[in-house]
Amino acid sequence: MERLVCLAVGYAFGLIQTGYLCGKFQKKDIRTMGSGNAGTTNALRTLGWKAGLVTFLGDVLKCVLAAGVVTLLYGKSHPDTIVLLVFYTGLGAVLGHNYPFYLRFKGGKGIAATGGLVISTLPPHLTLLCLAVFVLVIWGTRYVSLGSLLGVTAYLIVVLVYGRCGGFHVPPFALREIYIITGILVISALFKHKENIKRLLNGTENKLSIKKKSE
Ligand code: G3P
Repeated sequence: MERLVCLAVGYAFGLIQTGYLCGKFQKKDIRTMGSGNAGTTNALRTLGWKAGLVTFLGDVLKCVLAAGVVTLLYGKSHPDTIVLLVFYTGLGAVLGHNYPFYLRFKGGKGIAATGGLVISTLPPHLTLLCLAVFVLVIWGTRYVSLGSLLGVTAYLIVVLVYGRCGGFHVPPFALREIYIITGILVISALFKHKENIKRLLNGTENKLSIKKKSE
């Protein structure tokens, strides 16, 4: 039952579509511009750096907030499995972000929301490690999609290693579920980036670009 509540809380927070709202603020529909994705990269590309920054922070924070709500709800009653419940919440937030019912299930690709889950589940040095993979790949290639996919994969690897070293302090069944949820997040990211992957493979992927004020 708690798992379902956490998925629902996460989904509700995930519904806050920061990129879409930033577009609305500029009287635009981000989903009909650029790549059509309601995320940070497309907000930078079509709305400008301020909207991109707000979208990134909003999408990360909504998952962190959802994790905070669930920790308040269950932290005391479920101390052994609260981390697992936070993972369920993060999964819900990514689903709400990617598939918002009120936008006909057309949202973003869930990378910033996954970033919020990274912050909520890993100690700071491991969060920085995942962030470093994400930033360095983008810095080196200017492909945000590649940075996103490798960043999420780094998260999976870190979760597997940290979990094996006993970092999460959860019972074995919870650890297995944590691995499964993180695996689902990677598969979901791959699925949502399938067009990006095709473009990366044939060399036509869009590089990071930021709309200038005058454009
Ligand atoms: O997180 C989204 C990013 O990886 C790719 O965005 O708009 O280029 O498809 P976009």
